[in-house]
Amino acid sequence: KPQTSTDVVWHHATVTRARRERLNGHRGAIVWFTGLSGAGKSTLAHAVEEELHRMGCRTFVLDGDNVRHGLCGDLGFSAKDREENIRRVGEVAKLFMEAGVIVLTAFISPYKADRARVRSMVEHGGFMEIFCDSPVEICESRDVKGLYKKARAGQIAEFTGISSPYETPENPELTVNTGKLDLEASVRQVIEAMQHRSLIA
Ligand code: PPS
Repeated sequence: KPQTSTDVVWHHATVTRARRERLNGHRGAIVWFTGLSGAGKSTLAHAVEEELHRMGCRTFVLDGDNVRHGLCGDLGFSAKDREENIRRVGEVAKLFMEAGVIVLTAFISPYKADRARVRSMVEHGGFMEIFCDSPVEICESRDVKGLYKKARAGQIAEFTGISSPYETPENPELTVNTGKLDLEASVRQVIEAMQHRSLIA
């Protein structure tokens, strides 16, 4: 019989999350950026990280383009693969959070159910969903990676916003109008929302 997680006993660490958080001076948290390709998730997540780092916080960015080279290198863009992508990323983000780190994730994460599943893994207040709101027309007109052009030409199947759905968040902790705002203003909004929620001082 193959071994399953039911045969594995959880090992409790003596250095607890609470102790790590005390040492760090802030709590661990997941700040989850979601939005279309080209909406500015990665740019914003990295700029927020820069600011948090400057403030003395322990941070890490998990980014779709990077994670899909390694941990999720076996996954494509079908609904099932995206679900598995977000499940793995959620588990990794939770480990970072347990380590007392503020982890910023930048994934399209187009499905409500997948985002809700990650949220449900984290105790209240430790998960912040940030919708990078930029209409598909703007993302397409920027087309930084040339992917929209390829998707329109039928060279990329199941492209989010063109031939694959994006389910807009209904109750995100924050919506940032990344289609209009400049980066500095967007960062300020995120930092203020984090302060408002006592994730940082
Ligand atoms: S998902 O939906 O959350 O599992 O996607 P994610 O892991 O964030 O990966 C999105 C990046 O992959 C590139 N790419 C595509 N995106 C959407 N649909 C299709 N079919 C696709 N194929 C490749 C694209 O560069 C995305 O990067 P971002 O940073 O979002 O532009």
